[in-house]
Amino acid sequence: MSRTRPEFEPITAGRSGALAIRAVGKTHHIDGQPLEVLRDVSLDIGPGEFVSIVGASGCGKSTLLRLIVGLDNDYQGEIRLDDRRILSTSLDRGIVFQDHRLFPWMTVEENVAVALDRRPLGREAKKKLVAESLALVNLSGFEGAYPHQLSGGMAQRAAIARALINEPKVLLLDEPFGALDALTRLKLQTELQALRRRNQGTMLMVTHDVEEALYLADRVVIMQGGPGRIARIVPVPFPHPRDRGSAAFARLKDEILAELMREPELGSAQVTILSQDRRR
Ligand SMILES: Nc1ncnc2c1ncn2[C@@H]1O[C@H](COP(=O)(O)OP(=O)(O)OP(=O)(O)O)[C@@H](O)[C@H]1O
Ligand SMILES: [Mg+2]
Repeated sequence: MSRTRPEFEPITAGRSGALAIRAVGKTHHIDGQPLEVLRDVSLDIGPGEFVSIVGASGCGKSTLLRLIVGLDNDYQGEIRLDDRRILSTSLDRGIVFQDHRLFPWMTVEENVAVALDRRPLGREAKKKLVAESLALVNLSGFEGAYPHQLSGGMAQRAAIARALINEPKVLLLDEPFGALDALTRLKLQTELQALRRRNQGTMLMVTHDVEEALYLADRVVIMQGGPGRIARIVPVPFPHPRDRGSAAFARLKDEILAELMREPELGSAQVTILSQDRRR
């Protein structure tokens, strides 16, 4: 960790960020009817590892992330972070969504400071942490701006700053760049890679963009729907910075795309359940 914080120990000090997902199953209910969304999902993610999840829409990727964040306890199996079972949300896990979810009535600085609410810090200490976090995502100078005064990429950077401010052991990213234009997306991918080198936390990112997954991740997890499960885990052997134009990169991308195309018609099992329900 390159940031120094003389006022207090980083929350993550001495912890590793190993995530163990064991035989996880999840059933949602829609209109009173059960819908099996995840079945027997098991995955170990090492400390500091970057794992990407790709898979068809509706296969349960966001549901899995919600369970890891601790927003939902009602599932089968077990999820552990550094050998402690995840039972609720905690500062050791941060999440960034596709939409920035900044409060429109707050400035960038206030929005990022919201993440410090649960920490007993003085005003000046908070201000300093916010400034550091905004500097990390190249947003220094925009502390006083309101979300509507930011571009989509800047707003997403602010959301990342908010998620990183407590130095979480695990950063969860749910299609963080999904709503951005192609150029901004490439830029933020490079920035995220640089952030990762400095931050060294564990990262788990859901994306629909196979190239993005291959550019950033140590391993790509391919999920299949109906109910959602892991179809394959692909290690990415290329050193950073990765060359998206290389033949080996393109081959691996094609391989993953082919696996995704094998996906049965989008959530077909789920659609069956829902249409049966409607006939009742
Ligand atoms: N709170 C909820 N209540 C009931 N069903 C839900 C709930 N959240 C998600 N689902 C259902 O669970 C399934 C998986 O949803 P989820 O959002 O995890 O998919 P996803 O893989 O993230 O899809 P996408 O790529 O489109 O974001 C869907 O069929 C959805 O209808
Ligand atoms: Mg989703």
